[in-house]
Amino acid sequence: TGRFTFDPGFTSTAACESKITYIDGDVGTLLYRGYAIDELAEKSNFLEVAHLLLNGNLPTASEYQAFSNNITRHTMIHEQLAQFYRGFRRDAHPMAIMCGIVGAMAAFYHDSTDIHDPHQRMVASHRLIAKMPTLAAMAYKYSIGQPFVYPDNSLSFAGNFLNMTFSVPAEKYIIDPVVEDAMEKLLILQADHEQNASTSTVRLAGSSGANPFACISAGIACLWGPAHGGANEAALDMLREIGRPERIPEYIARAKNKDDPFRLMGFGHRVYKNYDPRAKVMAKVAKNILDKLNIDDPIFDVARELERIALSDPYFIDKKLYPNVDFYSGVVMSAIGFPTSMFTVLFAISRTVGWIAQWTEMMEDPEQKIGRPRQLYTGPTERDYVPLAARG
Ligand code: CMC
Repeated sequence: TGRFTFDPGFTSTAACESKITYIDGDVGTLLYRGYAIDELAEKSNFLEVAHLLLNGNLPTASEYQAFSNNITRHTMIHEQLAQFYRGFRRDAHPMAIMCGIVGAMAAFYHDSTDIHDPHQRMVASHRLIAKMPTLAAMAYKYSIGQPFVYPDNSLSFAGNFLNMTFSVPAEKYIIDPVVEDAMEKLLILQADHEQNASTSTVRLAGSSGANPFACISAGIACLWGPAHGGANEAALDMLREIGRPERIPEYIARAKNKDDPFRLMGFGHRVYKNYDPRAKVMAKVAKNILDKLNIDDPIFDVARELERIALSDPYFIDKKLYPNVDFYSGVVMSAIGFPTSMFTVLFAISRTVGWIAQWTEMMEDPEQKIGRPRQLYTGPTERDYVPLAARG
């Protein structure tokens, strides 16, 4: 391979050093700053986890209060930014809207774009974390033709987002604690995952010194793909298409057929070659919310049965294909009341914390360089230009 290491898909290249998230894919371990994901999902809340990822430690009571105040101070968006939504068709995919709107933030908030100033970087981080739920809820409201709902800072992070999404001026939305708890867990579980495709995209975009809001917009674009964050939407669509447990073998056979491009969505992972620890928690959250809200949804039975059959099939066992976080997250989001088109948007709200924490870590690194992968050139060798009239 000459002067360069050839590593398509970066399966064995560490592009940076990081102190944020640790994954041991063979065992199925995921730690945020040293804390196990299941423990955080069980005992913490999203804002506390955001503080942990950004600052490296769980906040003290006064740090928590200050952080929470900083975030809530930024939950509103510039009224002119709200005008942007009208430029989109109502049937636009909300992820398309999010790419545009979050990128457009770079044209506002000029007092938080000097990437060399730690204070400005911090303000950009707080703005992004605070405004993502507002922007996401507005994308949803726009798509269904309802008026935007302003943030309510007396609510929790998850509660505020639910309220902006589901309340209407004519009727107050009552936040069910079961739903609020599921939402918090969903946000915690997806907040960071070290150098996945979208995070690497944010780092690469940021390595050139680009505007932080533009970098997060790049991350959103990457997350949208069905091999990454878009898998939650694809997984739920698949479960609905399967519809009943009797039809599972047909889909298993398709997934195993080399000539069929179909894959079991929500299965397999580049790093986890053992059970995805987030999927374990998510399966519990899914069961809990369906039980407590008394929802009798056959897709949960399909999911459980599909998992059982796949995990006893030599194809999936040999290739170490286990359910990933997206396998059950769709069931949870659907039970809360989100349409599938919003699933990846919810993922983006949560992952914004990881993206901005990773971007900040990169910016604080004095050795930081622009990311510039090399290639193995396989095109023609040098040749002479032939004038148009002389070409055969
Ligand atoms: N169904 C059937 N076969 C699969 C699947 C699947 N879901 N995933 C991988 N395989 C097979 C694949 O055909 C290949 O077989 P072979 O070695 O015979 O060619 C082998 O397993 C290895 O797959 P790969 O594509 O080389 O592995 P990768 O590490 O490049 O891809 C992945 C990882 C997540 C993109 C892939 O497993 C996949 O496409 N899964 C479905 C989409 C999905 O659920 N994505 C969410 C990932 S987790 C959340 C996130 O990142 O956002």
